[in-house]
Amino acid sequence: MDGGAARLPGTRAIVLSVNGADHTLLVEPRTHLADALREQLNLTGTHLGCEQGVCGACTVLIDGVPQRSCIAYAVECEGSRVTTVEGFDADETMAALREAFAAHHALQCGFCTPGMLITARDIVLRLGAAEDARIREELSGNLCRCTGYVGIVDAVAAVAAGRTPAPAVAAREPAPLAAAPLPVAGASAPAAAPSAPMTGGGAMLEETVHLAAPPDAAWAALSDLRRVADCLPGAQIDTVDGERVAGSVALALGPIKARFAGEGTVHLDPATRSGRLRGAGREGASRAEGEASWTVAPGAAGGSDLTVRLSWRLTGPLAQFGRAALVQDLVRRIAQDFARNLDALVAGEPAPAARPLGLLAMLWALLRGWLSGRR
Ligand code: FES
Ligand code: FES
Repeated sequence: MDGGAARLPGTRAIVLSVNGADHTLLVEPRTHLADALREQLNLTGTHLGCEQGVCGACTVLIDGVPQRSCIAYAVECEGSRVTTVEGFDADETMAALREAFAAHHALQCGFCTPGMLITARDIVLRLGAAEDARIREELSGNLCRCTGYVGIVDAVAAVAAGRTPAPAVAAREPAPLAAAPLPVAGASAPAAAPSAPMTGGGAMLEETVHLAAPPDAAWAALSDLRRVADCLPGAQIDTVDGERVAGSVALALGPIKARFAGEGTVHLDPATRSGRLRGAGREGASRAEGEASWTVAPGAAGGSDLTVRLSWRLTGPLAQFGRAALVQDLVRRIAQDFARNLDALVAGEPAPAARPLGLLAMLWALLRGWLSGRR
């Protein structure tokens, strides 16, 4: 057993492969991976800056994918392969990056450097030679207070120059969303796909919420997109023109605040009480593409069941909050809030959008709830 942690209530032993060696760690449910690595394995190269998933200083590889270890529960990583900055001694790409960072003055205090190097290595292997603009976009989830980024971008570009993507890593570069045809009028709704684990900056999940409203009333409310947006915290529909809609969705996490503005296509099928919305939006260096499909069915004990299937792909800095548990918990909370709001709307109660509830508030409350328990 590594480390000298006392066995507290709820503590349990997990086995992780860290830098190629198996370790058994004693962790509480709330212990995040960075604390486990630093405190039990003395791998202090994994730095903790914000502990909110914002700065990227704690970036490590989990099963080969860069992730923020401050918002990854250690228990969630059981059985995973974790690579910290100390685990790249024999790695040719990392050796080249270390030299390039020194040659291009890509660090001063060095606090951001472990996370920056792990992200940089992923960029080089995944993209090969890349434009400076793309490198900046890819690095935008790693904050540096000292350098002004020019040296970091130059160092990454120098190592990436002339390279082609490494197939195993490049396979994680998300493809555009599948060009599934929109359902034609009268066609039945697509069969629900099972929830899939998150890969890179994309994910798919399905959630069913119960509505007090009967199916026809729920469907009637859902057929008015502006009213639907009123029920969805942070969403806003600006224009509806036939099947084309334009609007925005607000997202925020701590100091990162974003409003994705974009356009989409919506198709509603009253015969099956199902609908599908596909769209894409951009905010700064982050881009989101996604699809939502929904079906209203009679509930087993009255009312109705609304099943929503979401798939999306996020690129840019916001993509790096991609721990599956975090996103799924968030979507579950949004779905439940949406159901409450929709029921209120069907019952003729005041528009729920008047309440100052945004994705910002929900996400922040969620994180605060998780993190406050560990102080
Ligand atoms: S410590 Fe800042 S993202 Fe993890
Ligand atoms: S070198 Fe100091 S924070 Fe990046």
